Amino acid sequence: MISFKNKWLLLVVAASLSLGVAAATEKKEEKKEEQSKGYLEAQKKSMFSKENIAKRTAPVGKIYVEGDDVPAAAPPPVVESTGPRSGGDVYTANCSACHGAGVGGAPKFGTSAWSDLAAANSIDALLQSVVNGKGIMPPRGGCANCSDDELKDAIQHMIDSAQ
Ligand code: HEC
Repeated sequence: MISFKNKWLLLVVAASLSLGVAAATEKKEEKKEEQSKGYLEAQKKSMFSKENIAKRTAPVGKIYVEGDDVPAAAPPPVVESTGPRSGGDVYTANCSACHGAGVGGAPKFGTSAWSDLAAANSIDALLQSVVNGKGIMPPRGGCANCSDDELKDAIQHMIDSAQ
């Protein structure tokens, strides 16, 4: 026969046990909720989510017919001009690789090869050689986005280096 005192003890143990189970269940629920939250978030990021499919399949353009409110066109982006590059800058960036050391028979920077060239040719004739390319020198001396004036200044820079 269980004594009165033991009965109470049993009751307390049973109560705390069930409390523990309740708490554990609650925790499990919380975890589940958190997991499904993560799942939903991942789903949103997926390429198959409603939003992303809508984004991918959005029309590329819109046709306006007479009477439609047409939004104003975006102003063209403002591009800061860096200004024309100096002959020295163009030389250093594009010509020095060959003309610095005289690669492939290139007239070498700082030598009389340049005064000889200048004596025998007009600067326009030299420019023409550079624009078209000569020997292993590629067209425009390899500077596709150099203007004629920038190339001329680079040539002058090399002529001025002659000693
Ligand atoms: C890949 C190497 C290379 C690069 C880069 C190069 N050159 Fe040349 N350049 C040469 C060679 C080689 C010659 C000599 C070609 C010949 O006479 O056959 C030459 C010749 C020249 C001549 C003399 C042309 C003539 O009519 O005799 C000029 C002027 C010249 N280069 C300017 C430039 C300028 C300006 C640049 C840079 C914008 C440049 N080069 C970049 C290799 C190069």
